[in-house]
Amino acid sequence: MDFPFDPELARAETLPSACYTDSSLLDTERDRVFGRSWQWAGNTSQVPNPGARFHTEVAGEPLLILKDEGGRLRAFSAVCRHRAGRVGGGGKSLKCAYHGWTYDLEGRLLGAPEFEGVEGFDRGACRLPEFRVETWGPWIFVNLDPSAPSLKEVLGEILPETASWPLDALRPVHTLDYDLACDWKVYVDNYLEGYHIPVAHPELFRQMDYGAYRVETRAWHSRQHAPVKGEGTLYHRDLAAGAEPEALYYWLFPNLMVNVYPDHVQLNRIEPLGPGRCRTHFAWFAEKPLDLSENFAFSDLVQQEDIALCEAVQQGLSSRTYDRGRYSVKRENGVHHFHQLWVEMMKD
Ligand code: FES
Ligand SMILES: [Fe+2]
Repeated sequence: MDFPFDPELARAETLPSACYTDSSLLDTERDRVFGRSWQWAGNTSQVPNPGARFHTEVAGEPLLILKDEGGRLRAFSAVCRHRAGRVGGGGKSLKCAYHGWTYDLEGRLLGAPEFEGVEGFDRGACRLPEFRVETWGPWIFVNLDPSAPSLKEVLGEILPETASWPLDALRPVHTLDYDLACDWKVYVDNYLEGYHIPVAHPELFRQMDYGAYRVETRAWHSRQHAPVKGEGTLYHRDLAAGAEPEALYYWLFPNLMVNVYPDHVQLNRIEPLGPGRCRTHFAWFAEKPLDLSENFAFSDLVQQEDIALCEAVQQGLSSRTYDRGRYSVKRENGVHHFHQLWVEMMKD
């Protein structure tokens, strides 16, 4: 898709609506956006000791994340080299569930039953492809692109800003998925601006200092500054004496939100499900057992409000009368930043 996109916010038009409605873009997005960026693929608590493993998927690629004998985290293709069965199993080897080929924890082929007499088959060269894997706090990230910048580089300013938070000690406490009838970018756009808060989230608006709300964009992520006002809000609970009540709201290109609160962290990962459909996966993490029921209820209230907005936008984007709009310079710089990164990544 070819269209002009102005890097100057004040002059820019939003993405053409076909970017959200043309189903032929999904494969390109999968390869160029999701296949080239750091994707949150699981938690270190899922691989506590050598040999531990779990299945996941990144950009449509079936993966097996495991801790090898030396305690190193590895991300292998879970696709068997025989006829593409699923490799998994337990113990000191990886086993395909189809015909039982086995691989060691380095991904090298160990055994292929009843395979005598096959010509030109180099067993020694047969191994599971491996992908880049890095961690941040309790989270495992995978990038399918060998030439992408490192996770550290993508996190950039986030690392010093979160240095005093005990991220490594966080444990998963709760997850919740919502399926939405909108393109994944509609949901991300909505997250990246506070412009709609006074109109669409009355309860959230009451808790925050909207005048001081701003979005700061960095190379591969952005940060929203959303100070809370007054005592007695959710954010003040359990706050250490003298600590600032400001939460840290980060968005990592392209589809991860990391919301760091005084006593817990919430991740939202937005996954495309198909044309005009996406899933938002919410996960909460805390250092100690904590009653977060109030937070879950509040998050659900805001989420239901956002779902209604996003699903209406998706319908609007299919309208014969609408193609592109404009950005508020004051309030929608984060959305423009996302669109600019998306346009760049979608170029071959
Ligand atoms: S597909 Fe894995 S052993 Fe046949
Ligand atoms: Fe919202």
